[in-house]
Amino acid sequence: MSHASTIEAILDAVAGTAPEIREGLVGRREYVEGENPSGEDQLAADVHADRLLEERLLAIDGVDSYASEEREAVVGADDETADGGDGDSSGELSVAVDPLDGSSNLKPNNAMGTIVAVYDAPLPAQGQDLVAAIYVLLGPITTMVAAVDGQATEYVVDDGDRHTVRENITLPGDPTVYGFGGRVPDWTEGFTEYARGIESDTSLKLRYGGAMIGDVNQVMTYGGVFAYPALESAPEGKLRLQFEGNPMAYIVESAGGKSSDGERSLLDVEPDGLHDRVPVHLGNADLIDRLETTIDGGE
Ligand code: F6P
Ligand code: MG
Repeated sequence: MSHASTIEAILDAVAGTAPEIREGLVGRREYVEGENPSGEDQLAADVHADRLLEERLLAIDGVDSYASEEREAVVGADDETADGGDGDSSGELSVAVDPLDGSSNLKPNNAMGTIVAVYDAPLPAQGQDLVAAIYVLLGPITTMVAAVDGQATEYVVDDGDRHTVRENITLPGDPTVYGFGGRVPDWTEGFTEYARGIESDTSLKLRYGGAMIGDVNQVMTYGGVFAYPALESAPEGKLRLQFEGNPMAYIVESAGGKSSDGERSLLDVEPDGLHDRVPVHLGNADLIDRLETTIDGGE
């Protein structure tokens, strides 16, 4: 199977699974025992979405391995022992998934969804090895944004089918929104200085919903900047490189925006481990350039 047809099959599988994930949220708002590998409590809904996506994505010819925020190790297509995609399956793709991004929004019934990164390399992989990235936003309606070959497309998902609504998305050139995570007193001096500059720009207003895909989708729609920065108490920030930072950076960069860990594109960050965290800044190119300059001068 060519990469192009494997990627199409992944897009179909992700769209096809979205209604089941949405329906599965009902009755799965309670926590299960144990934590995910990042030390966060898991909801029954996180575990359910992870199992569905593992089954659907590993069933695709050309997908060799599956990793997720909700499990410690990579799972191989042929057995439960992962080879990270580098066994005898050369030429096949690896998927890294955040099954329910923003799942703490389930309790107050706010937006959340799924992120899927498709790497042409064993995991953990660098962002430069991405060949596609997808997010599904479970808002009042279900939408999906996929970046393939440097082009981002938005779909509405209806009954598991995807219908194109916006092709070749580019970030609006007159940005209007920003959203920054982390406790304000915990921000670094450099990021605080940057945030103060953004706040004093009268064309920008605060929009923060607590689910990265919801917040980044606002940036994709209105233009602006999203960040979950490095914190004094957590220099690597909160978000995970393989499952969150890389795929969202690939999508924003495909739409003509930029990403940064504070110094470089997220796609240039070398991974050490599967569950590495990274400071995430995404948005219009001039706002990310300004961030890098300010942080550089402020630390
Ligand atoms: O996956 C982690 C996540 O839920 C992101 O979707 C979101 O941006 C962030 O955590 C929210 O964190 P906080 O609750 O600290 O604002
Ligand atoms: Mg997440």
